[in-house]
Amino acid sequence: MTRNSSVRQEFLQLSRQQVQSEEPQSLIRNKWCGLLFFQFCLAACIIGTVMGLGYYFLQEHTLTTQDPLHCLSPACMRLAEHFSAAMDLFSQPCDYILFSCEAEMSPKSSGRHRGKTVSRNVTRRDEMRRRVGRGSGMRMNRGSDTERKRDDRLPDRQTALLQAIKEILESPKRNDTSAAQKAQTFYDTCMRSNTTFTESIYHAQTLIQQLGGWPVSGSWTQPELNSTLALLMSQYNTFPFFNVYVGPDHNESQNYIQIDQPDFQFPVEWNSHTNRSKFNLQSLRPFFSSCKELLALLNISLTSSIKRCALYMSLSSTLVTNTAPLSYRLSQKLLYHRITIQELQELAPTIDWLSCLQAIFHPVPVSKSDVVLLHNQPYIIYMSQTIINWTHRHEMKDSYPLHTYMIMNVLQTLMPALHTRFMQTMKNFSITVDNENEVVPHWRHCVLQTVKGFDTLISHLIKDHYAGEEAEMLISDIYDSFKTKIATLNWQNEDTRDLVLNKINSFTPKLSTNNEFFNPLKLDEYFGEVIMSEKVYFSNYLQMLLLQQRMRSRLLSHTPQPDVLFVHPFVSGNDIIIPVGMFVLPQFHSSYPRAVNYGMLGTLIAKDLLHLLLPDILSQSKSAVLESECVWSHYLTAQKGTSSLSPSQQREVWVQYSALQVALLSYNKSLQRHSGDTSVSGLSHIHLFLASFTKASCDSEPYSTLMPFEPSFLVTVLCVNSLHCPKPLTCVDNRSLELC
Ligand SMILES: *[C@@H]1O[C@H](CO)[C@@H](O)[C@H](O)[C@H]1NC(C)=O
Ligand SMILES: *[C@@H]1O[C@H](CO)[C@@H](O)[C@H](O)[C@H]1NC(C)=O
Ligand SMILES: *[C@@H]1O[C@H](CO)[C@@H](O)[C@H](O)[C@H]1NC(C)=O
Ligand SMILES: *[C@@H]1O[C@H](CO)[C@@H](O)[C@H](O)[C@H]1NC(C)=O
Ligand SMILES: *[C@@H]1O[C@H](CO)[C@@H](O)[C@H](O)[C@H]1NC(C)=O
Ligand SMILES: *[C@@H]1O[C@H](CO)[C@@H](O)[C@H](O)[C@H]1NC(C)=O
Ligand SMILES: *[C@@H]1O[C@H](CO)[C@@H](O)[C@H](O)[C@H]1NC(C)=O
Ligand SMILES: *[C@@H]1O[C@H](CO)[C@@H](O)[C@H](O)[C@H]1NC(C)=O
Ligand SMILES: *[C@@H]1O[C@H](CO)[C@@H](O)[C@H](O)[C@H]1NC(C)=O
Ligand SMILES: *[C@@H]1O[C@H](CO)[C@@H](O)[C@H](O)[C@H]1NC(C)=O
Ligand SMILES: *[C@@H]1O[C@H](CO)[C@@H](O)[C@H](O)[C@H]1NC(C)=O
Repeated sequence: MTRNSSVRQEFLQLSRQQVQSEEPQSLIRNKWCGLLFFQFCLAACIIGTVMGLGYYFLQEHTLTTQDPLHCLSPACMRLAEHFSAAMDLFSQPCDYILFSCEAEMSPKSSGRHRGKTVSRNVTRRDEMRRRVGRGSGMRMNRGSDTERKRDDRLPDRQTALLQAIKEILESPKRNDTSAAQKAQTFYDTCMRSNTTFTESIYHAQTLIQQLGGWPVSGSWTQPELNSTLALLMSQYNTFPFFNVYVGPDHNESQNYIQIDQPDFQFPVEWNSHTNRSKFNLQSLRPFFSSCKELLALLNISLTSSIKRCALYMSLSSTLVTNTAPLSYRLSQKLLYHRITIQELQELAPTIDWLSCLQAIFHPVPVSKSDVVLLHNQPYIIYMSQTIINWTHRHEMKDSYPLHTYMIMNVLQTLMPALHTRFMQTMKNFSITVDNENEVVPHWRHCVLQTVKGFDTLISHLIKDHYAGEEAEMLISDIYDSFKTKIATLNWQNEDTRDLVLNKINSFTPKLSTNNEFFNPLKLDEYFGEVIMSEKVYFSNYLQMLLLQQRMRSRLLSHTPQPDVLFVHPFVSGNDIIIPVGMFVLPQFHSSYPRAVNYGMLGTLIAKDLLHLLLPDILSQSKSAVLESECVWSHYLTAQKGTSSLSPSQQREVWVQYSALQVALLSYNKSLQRHSGDTSVSGLSHIHLFLASFTKASCDSEPYSTLMPFEPSFLVTVLCVNSLHCPKPLTCVDNRSLELC
C-alpha cells in the first residue's frame, strides 16, 4: 500500500490536474471573445451581492453572540496556549498587517516546498527519496520536526497527522477492540525494541537459510527462481525485480494489479541525452563498504562478501539502466499500459507471472485473462532478458548472482527490525551520499511502520479519536458553500458555467473512512489471526510484512482505498474523498468550538477544493480576476506599493481569499443549525474564527510560495468595514477602500 501511493499519489495528481483543466479550457478558448464589457458589469454586481450577504451575516452575529461558553476539553486547553502565544490581530493591527509567517522560520524554500508532490523535473533520486521516506521510514522529509520547535506555528499537515497517530498509539491500552491493542503492541515493541545483536544475527541467518541460504561452491543447489521470488513478494513484502501494487487506472475507479520498475538502494541519475538511468558513481564506493560491513556482521568471510556485494551491485546497475523517472515515462506514454497476464507472460517469459501474482494476491483469484497495468513495459522486457543472460553467464562459475541479489534485497527489508548496528552500516552510506546527518525521530519511524500494517484500522481510530460526526458536518457545509461561491461567480459564458457547475454538482464529498472497504465492526475479525508478541519486535515485524500482503489482496477486490497518510482531498470516480488524516489536532477536533474548526480546517479544505476543481479559474471567470485585483489593491494601499501580480499569484490570491469566504459562509450555515458555539481565550465567534484562520494560514502548503503576502492579510481585507469585525483594523486607511 505504501508503494502503491507512489505512482498513484504523485503521478495522478499531475495528470488529474491536466485532465481537469482540459475541458473547460477548450470551451473557453472558443468563446472567449465578445461581451467583455457586459461581463465586467455583471461581475461587479455579483460581487456586490455576495458581499452584501456576508455583511449582513457578520453584522447579525456580532450583535447576537455576546457571551459564549468556554470550551474546556483538553484539546481546547492546548489550543488556548497556541492562541495566547499568538499575536492578536485586533489588538495590534499594525504589527499584524506586517506580521510574517516567514520571519520566524528558516529560509522560505526549506519548509515551503515540502508539500509539493509533483514536479516535472523529478529525478530518479527524488523519486526514490520520497518512496524511501514514505516506505521504510528510514529517511523522511527533512526538517519538519526540528522546524516545528523553532516557533509557535502549527505543524504541517503530515507532521500533525503522524503526531496524532502517535498519540493514539501511546494512549492507555484500550479494551474496546483487540485489533487496536495489537497495533499498540506492535508500536510498543518497535519503540522499546531491545533485540540484542546476537539475536538479530540469529533472526537474519535463520531467515536466509529458509530462503535457500547463501550460495556456496560445491554441492549447493540453487532454489527455483520463480518460487523464491513469489515467496519474497508475498511473505516478505520485498520486490527485487519489479514492484507490484494495487490501484485504480488513471480514468476509472476499479482497482487493478499494477506492475512497476523496482526501487533501488542507490541514488540514481537520469541522463536525458541517452534516456538511460545509472547509479551515481560517487555513491558506489561507500555503498560497497557498507555492504561488506553488513555481511561481516552476518559472519560472512571477507572474500565471500566482496564477491556478493560486487554481484549485487553489478546486477543492480544493469537493471537500473532501463528504469526512468515518472516525467519521462509520462511523456513517452509508458504509464498505465493495459495488458493481460497471458500477454505479459509472452513479453517477459523468464518470470512465471501467473503463479507469482497468485501468491501475492492469495486468496483473491487471479487468472491469465486478467488485465494488469504496466508502468514501464520496456523495463519489464529488459529485466526478463537480463535474468536469462545472467542465469547463463554465471551459473557455470558457481556465483549465482540472481539468488544473491534476492537475498540482499530481503536483508534490506529486514534492516529496520534488526539491531541498530545493522542500520548503522547503511546510515554510514546515506550520510556519505547525502552529506547530511539527519536523524529521524524514533517515534516517527515506529508510527510509519505501524501504519504499514494497520493502515485501515488507524483510519478508524483517527475518526473515533479526533474527527467524530463533526467532520462530516464540516465537509458537507464546506462543499455546499463552495458550490454557492462557484455559482455566484460570473462566468465567461453559460456553457462554461454549466459545465463547471454540473461537474461540481455531480461529485459527492465523502470522508475517507466512509466506505465499504472495512466495516469497523469487522476489524477485530480481520486482525483475528494476527498474533503480536509483547517482547520480540522481529516477529511482529514479519507479521506486519504479511499484513501488507493481506491488505494488498484485499484491495484488489475492492474500490480504491486512500492511504491513511494522505492529507489532501482527491477525486475518485464520482466522489471527492476528504482523507480522515486531515481531521487531527491541532487543525481540528470534535470538541473544538466550530469557529475554530471552520476557521482552520474549513479554510484548508476549501482551499484544496478550489485548487483541485478549478485549476484554470482565471481564464474562466472575470470576477475571479476582479476579486483578486481588489485584494491586491488593498495590499498596495497598506504597503504603498505599485507592483502587479503574475497570473499564478493572482489565482492563488483569489483561491485563498475565496477559501476564507467559503469557510465563513459555512460557519454561518452551521450557526444557523445550532446558534450556540463555545469559545476559547474568551474570543467572540467571529473573532475566534478569524484568529483560527490566521493560525492555520501560516501553513506550508504546496501553493503557499505563490502568495505575494501573508494570507493573514486577507483578514484585513475582509474587515475593511469596521462593522464586519470585532474592532476596526485601524492601520489601513479605509476611506479609499471598497469591499472585495
Ligand atoms: C447567516 O446566518 C443568518 C442566520 O443566522 C442568516 O439570516 C443569513 O442569511 C446568513 N448569511 C449568509 C450569507 O448565509
Ligand atoms: C531540473 O533540476 C535541475 C537541478 O535540480 C536544474 O538544474 C534543471 O534546470 C531543472 N530542469 C528543469 C527542466 O526544470
Ligand atoms: C478491560 O476489561 C477488563 C474486563 O473486561 C476489566 O477488568 C479492565 O478493567 C478493563 N480495562 C480497562 C483499561 O478498561
Ligand atoms: C480508460 O482508458 C483506457 C485506455 O487508456 C480505456 O481502454 C478504458 O476503456 C478507459 N476506461 C474508462 C472507464 O473510460
Ligand atoms: C530521449 O527522449 C526524448 C524525449 O523525451 C527524445 O526527444 C530523444 O530523442 C530521446 N533520445 C534518445 C537518445 O533516444
Ligand atoms: C560507520 O560508522 C561507524 C561509527 O560512526 C564507524 O565505526 C564505521 O567504521 C563506519 N563504517 C564505514 C563502512 O564507514
Ligand atoms: C562464524 O563463522 C565461523 C566459521 O565460518 C564459525 O565457526 C562461527 O561459529 C560463526 N559465528 C557465528 C556467531 O555464527
Ligand atoms: C519461471 O517460470 C516460467 C514459467 O513457468 C519459466 O518459463 C521460466 O523459465 C522460469 N524462470 C526461471 C529463471 O527458472
Ligand atoms: C543478452 O545477451 C545477448 C547475447 O549476449 C545480448 O545480445 C543481449 O543484448 C543481452 N540482453 C540483455 C538485456 O542484456
Ligand atoms: C527489554 O529488555 C528487558 C530486560 O531484558 C525486558 O524486561 C523488556 O521486556 C524488553 N523489552 C521488550 C520490548 O521486549
Ligand atoms: C474606517 O475606520 C474607522 C475607524 O478607524 C471607522 O470609524 C469608519 O467607519 C471606517 N470607514 C469605513 C468606510 O468603513
